[in-house]
Amino acid sequence: MMSVYIVRGKNRVAGTLAVHGAKNAVLPILAAATICGDCVIHNCPDLTDVAVAMDILGHLGCDARREGSTIITTASSGGDWRIPDGLMKAMRSSVVFLGGMIARHGEGEISLPGGCELGSRPVDLHLFALERLGAQVEEGEGKLRCKAPNGLHGAKIEFPFPSVGATENAIIAAVTARGDTQITGGAREPEIADLITFLQGCGAKIHLTIDGVIHIQGVERLHGCEHTVIADRIAAGTYLCAAAITGGEVLLTGLTPGHVLTALAYLSNAGCVVRTSLNSIWLKAPDRLKELGIIRTQPYPGFPTDMQAVMMATAMGADGTSVFVENIFDSRFRHVEELRKLGADISTQGKTAVVSGVECLHGADLCCTDLRGGAAVVLGAMAAEGASTVRELSHIDRGYERFAENLTQLGVDIKEE
Ligand code: UD1
Repeated sequence: MMSVYIVRGKNRVAGTLAVHGAKNAVLPILAAATICGDCVIHNCPDLTDVAVAMDILGHLGCDARREGSTIITTASSGGDWRIPDGLMKAMRSSVVFLGGMIARHGEGEISLPGGCELGSRPVDLHLFALERLGAQVEEGEGKLRCKAPNGLHGAKIEFPFPSVGATENAIIAAVTARGDTQITGGAREPEIADLITFLQGCGAKIHLTIDGVIHIQGVERLHGCEHTVIADRIAAGTYLCAAAITGGEVLLTGLTPGHVLTALAYLSNAGCVVRTSLNSIWLKAPDRLKELGIIRTQPYPGFPTDMQAVMMATAMGADGTSVFVENIFDSRFRHVEELRKLGADISTQGKTAVVSGVECLHGADLCCTDLRGGAAVVLGAMAAEGASTVRELSHIDRGYERFAENLTQLGVDIKEE
């Protein structure tokens, strides 16, 4: 039997929570650790995606073991240059291992990526960057093979769109390439800055200019380092929305408030009182939120696509109409159908969703459609009258550490059965 959540709604969130480390920072850092000396990486959340990444590391010849929230990596000289299908399908982000595989072995092979189903998720920008750095790419039979028999070399890489994963792949591949690399038009997410900090700690020569250009001077080898991963801004945003949707109050600690600025701006416009310190956020929500206005997802520092679903759940019961425009992924409204089961009034057309706030939501039998959609559905259930069941929890375990326990700690009536 797969487990389900039973959520009884209408309890106000109240309490303090330390936010766990960022999944989207740990994954590229682990990919980069394959080309570094021994590393001690703190604040690694215990998530299924991270466990898959550790398995991939082991397969690639880099031992990774966990001690609490610390992961210790030791890259040896052996290991495979291919990622087996099973591991690849378990996590789409495994494409981010490609740059390190080529840097390490002179070649890498992966099958077509798995992971969240958010419409087509191509890898052309990854391949574009790796080709610029001297890799030869062969595609066929659902596999991608990249080779650089003479090693990678520095290059000018101008991204037409700021793909997070492709920017990370380019950085990892370039740090030990021969010569200088300049990346323009790359993504500027905080997780990328964290990857850069980690690599700098390992001896990489990377310089990030204020206008977002990444300059890399290739070095022959990288040593190890000790690094603490940044807090998960999407998990933080989710817990802020949990407080907002229940008319509650929450103090989040151990995070950088600047990383969730856009979400905070929308929540405070909707009537929440927000106070921030250097590394904490306190939010108190009104009994009923005002509408959220128009939320357009954008690359960082814009509003994150990963928060669109939880913000939409937050808008369901607000007083007024909120509009969501999803600009990053084609098919990221799969949670809408689940939210409607709670009585939400949401209509979608193309990349736009219009949410007319309703006064009453009711419990329902719900399903997690994907990682962030799953969190949105749980939040929705928390705002509804009566009990809900939530199935397909494996999506949530990919990105939220101890989700139900944390919500329980905040006073939510949620049980895993
Ligand atoms: C990362 C995050 C994910 C987040 C996303 C956007 C990780 C592990 N995952 O995913 O949670 O939702 O950023 O903030 O960090 N694209 C291409 N060609 C490519 C690559 C991407 O067209 O080669 C497109 C994608 O289809 C998508 C957009 O670019 O429409 C953004 O994708 P990207 O930034 O690459 O997301 P990920 O790195 O996969």
